[in-house]
Amino acid sequence: MFEALQPRPADGILKLMQMYREDPRDGKIDLGVGVYKDANGLTPVMRAIKAAEHKLWETQDTKVYTGLAGDPAFADAMIDLVLGDAVPRDTIAAVATPGGTGAVRQSFELIKTARPEARVFVSDPTWPNHISILGFLGIEVARYRYFDEDTRGVDFEGMISDLKTAKPGDVVLLHGCCHNPTGANLNITQWQEVVSVLLETGAVPMIDIAYQGFGDGLQEDAAATRLVASSVPECLIAASCSKNFGIYRERTGLLMAISQNAAARKLHQDTLNFLNRQNYSFPPDHGARLVTMILTDDTLRADWQAELEEVRLSMLNLRQQLADELQQLSGSDRFGFLAQHRGMFSLLGTSADKVDAMREKNGIYMVADSRMNIAGLNAQTIPVLARAIVDAGI
Ligand code: LMR
Repeated sequence: MFEALQPRPADGILKLMQMYREDPRDGKIDLGVGVYKDANGLTPVMRAIKAAEHKLWETQDTKVYTGLAGDPAFADAMIDLVLGDAVPRDTIAAVATPGGTGAVRQSFELIKTARPEARVFVSDPTWPNHISILGFLGIEVARYRYFDEDTRGVDFEGMISDLKTAKPGDVVLLHGCCHNPTGANLNITQWQEVVSVLLETGAVPMIDIAYQGFGDGLQEDAAATRLVASSVPECLIAASCSKNFGIYRERTGLLMAISQNAAARKLHQDTLNFLNRQNYSFPPDHGARLVTMILTDDTLRADWQAELEEVRLSMLNLRQQLADELQQLSGSDRFGFLAQHRGMFSLLGTSADKVDAMREKNGIYMVADSRMNIAGLNAQTIPVLARAIVDAGI
C-alpha cells in the first residue's frame, strides 16, 4: 500500500540546518533557522525558565491530563501578554497548541471547517510553512505584495491594492511583528490603513505573532495585533512562545479566536476543542506551565523580561554593526535597511545563486531567498559576512 507514497521536497530551512551540520569547515557561519544565539553561538535556557522548571519539579504532584484546550490559566496569561485589555475576555476562545506552528495549523483547520472555499491571503514572501500547510489542507492561497526589492522595505501601496481584492469570507494572514522572512514591518499608521481595508472588504484577519519582544519591545510588538483585534468583528491570532521564552522544543503556543459575542465564542471554543481532540487530543503542557508560572509571578516575570530585553538589544546592536560595516566597505548607504528592519530576520534581497555562492565559497549559510538570521552573527563574523556580501556584488 505504501508504494504510492511520493518523495516530498525537503523544507528549505530544515535542509539548510542539515547542510550546516555536515559542513566540516571551521569558520562556517549559520544564519539559517530562526533560533536565537548568544555571542558564543549558544541558545541558552532562559534564567526564568530554569527557575520555573526547578520550582515545577519540586511542586508538581501529577501529570494527569489538563483539558482539551490546555490549562485555562495558560490561555489567560497569554491573552494578557498578547492582547492586554484590548479585547473583552468573554469574546475570546483559546486553545493551547504544540508551538506556534500548531496554532497556525489549528487556525487553518478552523477556517477550513467553517468555510472550505475561503482563500487565505499571505504576504509575498511569507514563512514558507504557511504556504506548505495551506497547500496540504487544500486551502486556496492568494498572495499580496509585501516586500519592495528596491528599498527592502514594505511595498505598502502594492499591499493595500492587493488586500482590497479580498472578499467577505476570505482570510488575510498578517505577521503581528518582526516579519518573517523580510524583517520589514508596517508602522502604526499603515496598520490603521490595513484595518480600514479589512473593514471595507469584510475579510477576516489572522495574525501570526511569533516574535513578540524581539522587535521594539514587549508592548510595542503587540500594538498592531491589539489594534487589529480591537477594530474588527472577528480575528484569529496564533501566538508562539518558542522564541521569546526560548522553549523551542517544548512546543508551546496558543490559538485565540475573537468573535462578536458569548454565543459565538462558545461555538468557537467547542470547535477548537474538537479540532485539538481530532489532531492530538490534549495539547502539551510542560512549556505552557512554565510560561504561566513566569507570567503570573512578579519576580520570575521581571527576570524574564530583563533577559528578553537583553536578547532584543543584542540583535539591534548586531544589525547596526552589520549596517555600519557594510557602509564602510561598500562606501554606500544601500545597506541601511538592515538597521531599520526588526526581529530576528532580514531579507538581503539577492538571488539564490549568490546565496549558494556565499555558502560554497565563504561557508555562510542563509536561506535560499536570502533571509539571514541576525542572531547568528557576532563581532567576529560580521566583518566576514560584510566582506562576502560586497565581494558577491550585492
Ligand atoms: C524559522 O522561520 O526559521 C523558524 O520559524 C523555524 C521554523 O520552523 O521554520
